[in-house]
Amino acid sequence: MTTQQKTWSQRFESALHPAIARFNASIGFDIELIEYDLTGSIAHAKMLAKTGIISAAEGDKLVSGLEQIRREYRQGLFVPGIDAEDVHFAVEKRLTEIAGDAGKKLHTARSRNDQAGTDTRLYLRDRIGQIRQQLREFQAVLLDLAENNVETLIPGYTHLQRAQPISLAHYLLAYFEMADRDWERLGDVCQRVNISPLGCGALAGTTFPIDRHYTAAELHFDRIYANSLDGVSDRDFAVEFLAAASLILVHLSRLSEEMILWSSHEFGFISLTDSCATGSSIMPQKKNPDVPELVRGKAGRVFGNLQAMLVAVKGLPLAYNKDLQEDKEALFDSVKTVQACLEAMTILLREGIAFNRDRLSAAVAEDFSNATDVADYLAARGVPFREAYNLVGKVVKTCISGGKLLKDLTLEEWKELHPAFETDIYSAIAPQQVVAARNSYGGTGFEQVRKSLIAARDRLNN
Ligand code: ARG
Repeated sequence: MTTQQKTWSQRFESALHPAIARFNASIGFDIELIEYDLTGSIAHAKMLAKTGIISAAEGDKLVSGLEQIRREYRQGLFVPGIDAEDVHFAVEKRLTEIAGDAGKKLHTARSRNDQAGTDTRLYLRDRIGQIRQQLREFQAVLLDLAENNVETLIPGYTHLQRAQPISLAHYLLAYFEMADRDWERLGDVCQRVNISPLGCGALAGTTFPIDRHYTAAELHFDRIYANSLDGVSDRDFAVEFLAAASLILVHLSRLSEEMILWSSHEFGFISLTDSCATGSSIMPQKKNPDVPELVRGKAGRVFGNLQAMLVAVKGLPLAYNKDLQEDKEALFDSVKTVQACLEAMTILLREGIAFNRDRLSAAVAEDFSNATDVADYLAARGVPFREAYNLVGKVVKTCISGGKLLKDLTLEEWKELHPAFETDIYSAIAPQQVVAARNSYGGTGFEQVRKSLIAARDRLNN
C-alpha cells in the first residue's frame, strides 16, 4: 500500500494511508508554533536534568540541539514535510538526528497533549502583547485627531437620522473608549492564557518526579493548572481570546461602516487620500473605500472562528481529543486578521482620510437638530418639558411647510409661540452653542470633551 515510515510504536504493523496521513497532519499550519515549541522543550529539558531524570550532560545536549534547530529554522534550513505529522514530532525527529540517543529522551515525562497546549499558550500570550500594543497605537491616532477637532462639529445621529450636533472629538473619543475596553479585555484574557499545562502529561500526570513550577517559571507562566485532566483539555482561553478578538472587529467594523458612508457623495464628510483608496477598472471617476470595506468584511471570519471553537469543544469528553487540534487555525487566522485590520485602520485614520470642514459646518447648520435646544430653552424657563416638546414639534412642522429653519423665525414669531422667548433664543440654537451647552458629565460640551481628552492622554501614557 505504501512505503511511508511508521510514526508510532511497534504496535503498528503498517504505515498510514497517505491521504489519511495528510488528513491527520497539522504540520502545514502548526509550524507557526515552532519557536514556542523549541522554547517549551528547552524548559522541559532543563527540568529533566535539574530533577535528575536525565543526566546534566544529556540535558546540555538537548538544549544545544534545540538551539541548533532554532538557528536552522531561522535560516530556512529546517523545513519539515508532511511525514513529520506535526511540529512536535518534527522537532523531536531532527533533535534525535542531532543529539543521538539523548534526543530520544526529550519526551520523557511529557506528552504531545501538554506540549501542544503549552506551545499554543506561549504563542497566544505573545500575540496578545502585540495586539495590545497595536490597540494603543490605534488609540493614539484617534486621540491626536480628536485633540485637533474639539470645535469641529458633525451631525450626531440616532436611527441614522440627524439628531443633535456633536464635537468631532467626542465622536472619535467614543472609539477610543471601545479600544480601551478591548485593550483591558485582552489583558484580562491573558490571565487565563498564561497558565502552564506542561507536566499534565497525556491526561493523568506522570510517574517521574518532575517540577512543574520550575518549567512554569522558566516560561514565565503566572500559574500552573491544578488538575491534569483540565490542563490538557482546557480551551477556555482560546474561546475567550476569540471572543475578545470578535469585539475588536465589531468596533473596527462599525467605524469602517461610518468611514464608508461618510466618504460617499451623499454624505461627503470625508475624502479618501490616494494612499488608502483604490480605483475602479472601468469607471475612471471612482475612488473606493476598500480598506474599511475589507475590515467590515473580515469581521465575519473572526466571528466564525469563535463559533467554530465553541462547537469544537462543546461535546468533548475528557481529556484530550484530536478535535482540539482545530484550535490552531482558528486562533492563527483570527490573530492575523485582527493584526492586519488594526494596522490598516490605524493607517487609514492617520493618513487615509481628510475631513471636509465646509461640508460638515453646513451639515450642522441647515437642519432641525437644534430642536431639542428650543424645548430645553423653554423648560429651563419653567415650561414643563413635555409641553415645550409638543410646542416645538408644531414649530418644526410649520417651518418645514414654509421652507424655513428655526433660526429664520422672527422674534415676534417666537413670542407668538410662547412669551418666554427672548432674543437670546438665537444664540441658544446656534450649532456651536448647542454643542457647548451639553456640558453634563461625559457629554459633548467642549469643556467636557477637553476634560476627556486629558483623561484619555493620561490613560495612554500610563
Ligand atoms: N497536533 C496535535 C494537536 O495539535 C498534538 C497533540 C496530539 N496528541 C495526540 N494524542 N494525538 O492537538
